[in-house]
Amino acid sequence: MSADVLIGTQWGDEGKGKLIDVLTRDVDAVVRFQGGSNAGHTVEIGSEKYVLHLVPSGIFRSGVSCIIGNGVVVDPIGLMEEMTALTERGLDVKQIMLSDQAQLIFAYHKRADAMKEAAAAKVGKKIGTTGRGIGPAYCDRAARTGLRAGILTKPEALKKAFYDNCERYNKEFAAAGMELLNADEEYAKLKVAAEYLAGFVTDTVVAVNKLLKAGKKVLCEGAQGTLLDVDHGTYPFVTSSSTVSGGACTGAGIAPKHIGTVWGVVKAYTTRVGEGPFPTELFDADGEELRRIGREFGATTGRPRRCGWFDAVATRYSCMINGVDKMAITKLDVLDTMKEIKVCIGYELNGKVIDYVPSDVEDLAKVKPVYESVPGWNCSTENVTCYADLPENAKRYLDHIAELVESEVAIVSVGPKREQTFEKN
Ligand code: GDP
Ligand code: IMO
Ligand code: MG
Repeated sequence: MSADVLIGTQWGDEGKGKLIDVLTRDVDAVVRFQGGSNAGHTVEIGSEKYVLHLVPSGIFRSGVSCIIGNGVVVDPIGLMEEMTALTERGLDVKQIMLSDQAQLIFAYHKRADAMKEAAAAKVGKKIGTTGRGIGPAYCDRAARTGLRAGILTKPEALKKAFYDNCERYNKEFAAAGMELLNADEEYAKLKVAAEYLAGFVTDTVVAVNKLLKAGKKVLCEGAQGTLLDVDHGTYPFVTSSSTVSGGACTGAGIAPKHIGTVWGVVKAYTTRVGEGPFPTELFDADGEELRRIGREFGATTGRPRRCGWFDAVATRYSCMINGVDKMAITKLDVLDTMKEIKVCIGYELNGKVIDYVPSDVEDLAKVKPVYESVPGWNCSTENVTCYADLPENAKRYLDHIAELVESEVAIVSVGPKREQTFEKN
């Protein structure tokens, strides 16, 4: 059986968590393959709302294996707290597996994240990270100084490595004039988390491949979005992992030949959190309306999300990089009251219109969006349960998006709940 991959096609928060929950109806395992608790994936079921940071969004379907893959950077204390909170709400965390190869995030990574951001802010180069230690943890991985989750099962080795690393990081903090970490205090918290998590640690690469061999259906859950990808995003205003579909191969240990359908989650407009260029960003009443109606506030940090019109140039690029087979269009309902909807169909750069995303971030920051206006539908779609019942102008909007980004619309989402989702065909 193949492994399907679901990724965000924009700057994150497209509604990946909701879609994973919906698609998990038909799968045996969900695997997170990159990122860490910078992710905030919201799933609403009935009157309950959950925000997941590290636990895969398949957790709400009993019997589904929820795998935190080798490509993820895991804050053990955060993961323990997340799992404990889910247990208190009646969910079965025994479905969770944690890769022994996943990199660990410690207090020093979070502090290093803050230190780097503060230094960058002084020279106007802040990224606006989530402060979850993601960049420093991936730096340690690349520098081969990171600790992997397997060490959670070896208390003595963990203690020694943690104290050694605290010492190394404290030298950096001292040089930057920052308060030093209290290694004893931090270790005490870590020890509790290690004891809690040790039983969940396993070789998930072998587990995933066994599932595939046995004909089971695997779904890989992307975090962040394509335009935040460390290679293909708006570098340096990106996260530190491979957020694209290809990341599922390395981050879950799945060979390319086993990848099946690539799902691209596409918000019907665009949002971004943090710094960096955003060609269609709105600073007017329409932008305010999108934020208000779409409740565009970060699920991880609570920051207001920057909002703008749909960018077909950026999303087409994203569909290309990911090889998107099927799109799930989310938050269509947020446009219900818009009289006129704009779609960015090109960028003007240095007096010339281009139809691609410039790879130089300075050029991208300079582009002026070229818009096309389409009429709104001015009626509520939140209770629509099948494609045929959508207002004609909403269908035209979806067809138009599909044509512009050269990919097929398969699912439409008109609200945060499971039931507010339907297939096009
Ligand atoms: P993710 O990071 O991609 O999983 O997305 P987030 O959970 O950060 O942000 C998406 C937000 O939109 C969440 O609050 C969801 O509950 C909500 N949401 C998802 N799909 C829809 C939709 O179709 N309509 C509306 N109105 N809200 C949605
Ligand atoms: P989900 O999975 C939106 C952004 C941050 C910042 C940049 C780098 O919920 O879609 P980092 O902490 O990763 O070093 O921050 O990436 N960012 C996200 N934006 N959704 C996310 O995740 C994000 N995760 C990171 O705001 O601009
Ligand atoms: Mg999110």
